[in-house]
Amino acid sequence: MKVKTFLLPALLCLAGAAHTADAPIKVVEGYKVDAETMKGFRTWRAAACDRCHGANQEGLVGPSLVNSLKVLTKEEFITTVKNGRLEKGMQSFGNSPQVMDNIDQLYAYLKGRSDGQITRAKVEPIAQ
Ligand code: HEC
Repeated sequence: MKVKTFLLPALLCLAGAAHTADAPIKVVEGYKVDAETMKGFRTWRAAACDRCHGANQEGLVGPSLVNSLKVLTKEEFITTVKNGRLEKGMQSFGNSPQVMDNIDQLYAYLKGRSDGQITRAKVEPIAQ
């Protein structure tokens, strides 16, 4: 019994930690963001999504993600990034640990751009 009462809060804690990426993002002055959202931005840069979706996410050969994320659900976003739409020119990132390990953060960053909380594409960490 003692073990159980000790373990339960620890397990709840772990479950909570797995969801921190879904917590509301923190944005100051439109471009200073929390550490998780910074990871999303760095993933965007590292994966070079901007080659097709534009440096400001407003579209190039690929559609504007500012518009797309107003419509797509998070699940649809993840499926699209993971599997791509190869016949339509959208690359698949399912084999990229860099992208897939940071997919929640990438979504959070792009969703922030889409809903207008983040007012410019290039973000910086909130000063500690
Ligand atoms: C080689 C070019 C290319 C790259 C690189 C690329 N995309 Fe795309 N993406 C596209 C094209 C083209 C489409 C439109 C596919 C279609 O017509 O359904 C698209 C579609 C999407 C969609 C669906 C939009 C919608 O409205 O249905 C999402 C989300 C998306 N891309 C996210 C990303 C992310 C995130 C990255 C980087 C990890 C990325 N893309 C990298 C070309 C690209």
